[in-house]
Amino acid sequence: MYISTRRLRRGQLLRVLATCFVMSLMVLWVQDDNNVVNHIKSFSYRYVINSYTFLNESLTNTRDKSDRHNYNYLINNKDKCKNEKVLLLLFVKTAPENRRRRDAIRSTWGNEEYIRSKYDANIKVMFALGIDKEPVQHDVLQNQLDVENKVYKDLVQQDFLDTFHNLTLKFLLQFGWVNAYCPNAKFIMTADDDIFVHTPNLVSYLKELDRIDVQDFWIGRVHRAAAPVRQKDSKYYVPYEMYPWLSYPDYTAGAAYVVSQDVAAKVYKASQTLNSSIYIDDVFMGICAKKMGISPQYHPFFSGEGKAPNHQCIYNRMMTSHGHLDDRHYLWRQATNPKVKELTSDFWGDVYCRVVNVILLCRIKFSDTYSCSAAWS
Ligand SMILES: *[C@@H]1O[C@H](CO)[C@@H](O)[C@H](O)[C@H]1NC(C)=O
Ligand SMILES: *[C@@H]1O[C@H](CO)[C@@H](O)[C@H](O)[C@H]1NC(C)=O
Ligand SMILES: *[C@@H]1O[C@H](CO)[C@@H](O)[C@H](O)[C@H]1NC(C)=O
Repeated sequence: MYISTRRLRRGQLLRVLATCFVMSLMVLWVQDDNNVVNHIKSFSYRYVINSYTFLNESLTNTRDKSDRHNYNYLINNKDKCKNEKVLLLLFVKTAPENRRRRDAIRSTWGNEEYIRSKYDANIKVMFALGIDKEPVQHDVLQNQLDVENKVYKDLVQQDFLDTFHNLTLKFLLQFGWVNAYCPNAKFIMTADDDIFVHTPNLVSYLKELDRIDVQDFWIGRVHRAAAPVRQKDSKYYVPYEMYPWLSYPDYTAGAAYVVSQDVAAKVYKASQTLNSSIYIDDVFMGICAKKMGISPQYHPFFSGEGKAPNHQCIYNRMMTSHGHLDDRHYLWRQATNPKVKELTSDFWGDVYCRVVNVILLCRIKFSDTYSCSAAWS
């Protein structure tokens, strides 16, 4: 008798607990501004519920694609790639007023001549931009851009306003330009003008891949199952009408990613048929790629928002890093110092750098640079 009541109670208790659990999940599920729940939702959406097949039907423009506005080139350098074997076309997303950043890039990691002579690789660095958003200084800046382009011949500009919410137009500019004027480039990279790209490491990596004629190649810092931001005050706010689903297809952070020739062509093709009203350019890129059945690969040395630790064992492997606006020249000298490569040329050097990298990257204190797994890779 005594035992059976206890059993009963235990059974009831379990049932009550289970009901509570389910109810609380349901309550949380409808409550939108909860980060943890948003993550659970977007992850289950990504991994359990959906394979994003809806993208094809829902985002493909049904109307004639001529309703898309075509922006005109104000500055173009059509012949930049012509009749050449180009290993890497590197697009830097810049804005009219960022002359200092462009100059710094030209004299450091974007120095085509240096890369050609020292590393025997043909890269082309182009700056993609729109027009200045302030009508007052627009004419002055435009004249300066013309002068700048006469000297360097590396700008590509179209007549849309250069604003954050027009980044997808800049994306279309880049992939449209590749398709029209540089379809021969083996790899295409797009990068922000405030990051550091270790071009020597990158080109030696790409030369290896070129040798094996790699296809379907797309690397960077991958965002998996990222949920659309629904807080209106956020820079990345996306309204339901624009993207009603719970998570984005996987994509690489727009700060820096690299694709192979075939991927660039496919992404361009998809971009011409999809509704481009989503103004987050890297998300749009992810949607284009998903439509073509291409998925991104994670490269451990493409950094997050944080600044990479200042150490030779890091330079040795680094592909991109953030937050080096002031010490770009210093980092470039350090990173290209021949001693850095010698460091890991033998067994003990390699062991040393692995230990150093574990210490630098696997700290408890979170800094968004390279993940701990990079130290082991
Ligand atoms: C994007 O550029 C177009 C063309 O210049 C402009 O009309 C529009 O206002 C811009 N959009 C945003 C959100 O800045
Ligand atoms: C693209 O989507 C937006 C909603 O985000 C819609 O207003 C617009 O009409 C769509 N464009 C086309 C061409 O379907
Ligand atoms: C979308 O459609 C294209 C062509 O119609 C097809 O090749 C592709 O596999 C589809 N993608 C998805 C994710 O269904």
